[in-house]
Amino acid sequence: MNFWSLLICLCLHLVGSVDRSRFKTCHQSSFCRRSRAQTESHYELESDSIHVSGHSLEALLINTDTSVKYKLELTGLVDNTFRIKINEAYPLKPRFEVPLVLQQVDTAPVEEVNRDDKSVHIALSQAKQNSVIINFKPLRLDFYVGENLVVTVNSRGLMRFEHLREKGTEEGSDSEPDLWQESFGGHTDNKANGPTAVAMDFTFAGMEHVYGIPQHADTFSLKDTTNSDPYRLYNLDVFEFELWNPMALYASIPFMMGHNRQSTVGVFVLNSAEGWIDIKKGETGIFGSLSNMVSGSQPQKQVETHWMFESGILDMFILLGPGPKEVSRQYGLLTGTTPLPPEFAIAYHQCRWNYNDQDDVNMVNSKFDEHDIPMDVMWLDIEHTDGKKYFTWDSRKFPDSVNMIENLSSKGRKLVTIVDPHIKKDNGYHVHTDLTAKGLYTKNPDGGDYEGWCWPGASYYPDFLNKEARDYFAEQYKLENYKGTTLDVFTWNDMNEPSVFNGPEVTMPKDKRHLGDLEHRELHNMYGFLYTIATHQGHLVRSENQLRPFVLTRSAFAGSQRYAAIWTGDNAADWGHLESTVPMCLSFSVAGMSFVGADVGGFFGNPDGELMVRWYQAAAFQPFFRSHAHLDSRRREPWLFSPGEMSLIRTAIRTRYSFLPFWYTQFYEAEKTGVPVMRPLWYEFPGDEGSFDREGIHMIGDALLVAPILKKSATELSVYFPGNELWYDVFTNQKYDVSGEISIQAPYDKMVVYQRGGTIVPRKHRIRRSSALMHDDPITLHIAVNREGKARGSLYIDDGRTFDYKTGGKSIYVEFKFEDEVLTAKMLQPAGTETKVWLEKVIILGNGPNNNPARVITKNEDVYVDTLYDTSANILTIRKPGVNLGEEFTISLK
Ligand code: GLC
Repeated sequence: MNFWSLLICLCLHLVGSVDRSRFKTCHQSSFCRRSRAQTESHYELESDSIHVSGHSLEALLINTDTSVKYKLELTGLVDNTFRIKINEAYPLKPRFEVPLVLQQVDTAPVEEVNRDDKSVHIALSQAKQNSVIINFKPLRLDFYVGENLVVTVNSRGLMRFEHLREKGTEEGSDSEPDLWQESFGGHTDNKANGPTAVAMDFTFAGMEHVYGIPQHADTFSLKDTTNSDPYRLYNLDVFEFELWNPMALYASIPFMMGHNRQSTVGVFVLNSAEGWIDIKKGETGIFGSLSNMVSGSQPQKQVETHWMFESGILDMFILLGPGPKEVSRQYGLLTGTTPLPPEFAIAYHQCRWNYNDQDDVNMVNSKFDEHDIPMDVMWLDIEHTDGKKYFTWDSRKFPDSVNMIENLSSKGRKLVTIVDPHIKKDNGYHVHTDLTAKGLYTKNPDGGDYEGWCWPGASYYPDFLNKEARDYFAEQYKLENYKGTTLDVFTWNDMNEPSVFNGPEVTMPKDKRHLGDLEHRELHNMYGFLYTIATHQGHLVRSENQLRPFVLTRSAFAGSQRYAAIWTGDNAADWGHLESTVPMCLSFSVAGMSFVGADVGGFFGNPDGELMVRWYQAAAFQPFFRSHAHLDSRRREPWLFSPGEMSLIRTAIRTRYSFLPFWYTQFYEAEKTGVPVMRPLWYEFPGDEGSFDREGIHMIGDALLVAPILKKSATELSVYFPGNELWYDVFTNQKYDVSGEISIQAPYDKMVVYQRGGTIVPRKHRIRRSSALMHDDPITLHIAVNREGKARGSLYIDDGRTFDYKTGGKSIYVEFKFEDEVLTAKMLQPAGTETKVWLEKVIILGNGPNNNPARVITKNEDVYVDTLYDTSANILTIRKPGVNLGEEFTISLK
């Protein structure tokens, strides 16, 4: 490509709106077209081949059209989970199986409940309510929880498994179009293995709503695709993506959750090739329970889904819950949970493309202090490098980066620099010459290194499937290699879909080759994931395994949560994009990516003051909280808005800091349980049907209900209060004894956030310049009682930086219970460290008048302290109870 075509490419990336013609529809993708057209089943299980032993059942399947045989393996896994793996019994060569994603998962014994000549019934021996009936002809698997049918597999007969073949050897097959070669947008894809698609249908019985399969800029409750394209899973850099449609975006996580009042179930298909998923909602007369299989039952709701992938095998997991939190735990067992981030990472981040030079960074760094706005992290985008050569600095703009970083560090702040995967073709760039010499780039089919175009111009793309390439990258993060940095520098991985400006659909051609001559097609959706493994490892190497890494990624696959936080990509400064942040973050959350956020303010364009304020107010209650802006957008640091607006932005950011102890505790618990920090209402109120399709509202942990204002000029909003609870406005302490939809006043300065009755939320009320400077500050407990006058909560404290909480048990995890006018603090695990954090105040909401002094009992003391009851607000305050949070205590109001 010459200079002019590169310029056109770059310009396409900088101006305009989404160009749909650059991205395939299902119809333009031959495997999707073929798979979507299928209407009937061709697969039968050979009953005499069934072998049940220990933890699994094995059997052969036959395609009745082609007589090709397949191996089916059903395995019991611990925690109410089944795995079903289908592969060719005698493939011409091994088919690709996704590496590195699954954790070590223990299998669980299964037993045969029943068998006849039509079907076999298998149950998990230690959790017999979880069982599956496998029907032989045609193949169909029905999964039950107790009596209830929850998921059926291949009940619509849409299974497809295109077996490997030699070109020209199959009668008729060469006459079908596009099997061995197809073209799109001037690019020809030569398929070395011909047609290799796999597909399966899953029906969520008795359910109306399914969620997950990020990433799409769509509603949280997924839509029926009968009249649209299917949801697409293909990691792509979609310039100026449009909202509310099933087009593919930067990440692909093939995990879906179905939920109704009785049950929640997860379906995970471990496949890293391009995928499409159709969703059809309706009613059916399929049998609803084991006992009425004979008599039939009333029609019931169901969601039919059809998953189609270009290649690989069918490796499917059915997670039987029975509730949403259990499904999250089960998915966490399979793919890992989100590790506790370093404390700074959950505070506020300030980014733009670009902070121009070190003076600019120093200026922004001090302006935050001048305006009394806390900030933890400054970010540098691609322009900080020497000619887009990552791991280098533009020495003209950053002559003394270490001094700049130390300025940040002196206030407890950090720096993040961007490190993209494309490597500039430049013989003076050691990363390029090293990777070339070591042969670690992705290759063309003829064996030469594949060259594409990205920010630096001509670039190469390391083969991160190869451990050697990952190790090489990890080494680059060592302080002696990544010059001009310190241990306070962390990493942003972008463009890792990978983005290739001159590639088909702006990505790498599928016929490029990875380790073992493997086609890129097989693992496209995990390229970004593999890259983050290297970065994460690099940060471990860099700190000699002392510091918890922080990595942000744009591209992700199942399991990415173990290595990186994610943001939703290049959104725009408009109200629709603000609105989409909630469903997009929730979709990632239920699919395991708990540390998720969206660019505050919108990446493209220029937000006005109102949009900026409302965005900050919303994002202060989303897990990853970073402002970011495009190179061509106007500067938009908080002080560049009107004084009134700046003050509202300041309040939003300071509010985030006041809730940091709560956030940190939530992240700690998320690492242990797999339950996401940001949750849909139905995670907490699984039986509340009215909550199942709520889009712009969510919970943080089990305690906070967040209803951001997402519409221009809105000063009122309709809030859905789930369940039958008491709620307390976290800013005014006003009590709401309400259920269902209520209209709430939300003037410009209002963030609509409620604490649920029955919870205790730890906060800090002295806001300083950064989270590190607040680390040892005292805690205030906000106790909001439920109808029974009870509440519970927890607090987690550690050093905020290292792995000592894991390796040395150096942490404090305390449970608070308020019951019968007594607050007790009990260690949930032996306190592994001391803490300087004291309890400053206890605020009790909704407990009624009480003029008694509080009796505070610790190991060494038994004293009385004054209480203050505010009658108008119905709040009781206990000041300075004099207890350290490293010890157990009781505070009695009786
Ligand atoms: C991509 C990223 C964006 C970044 C830009 C320049 O568009 O999504 O966040 O600022 O590249 O690196």
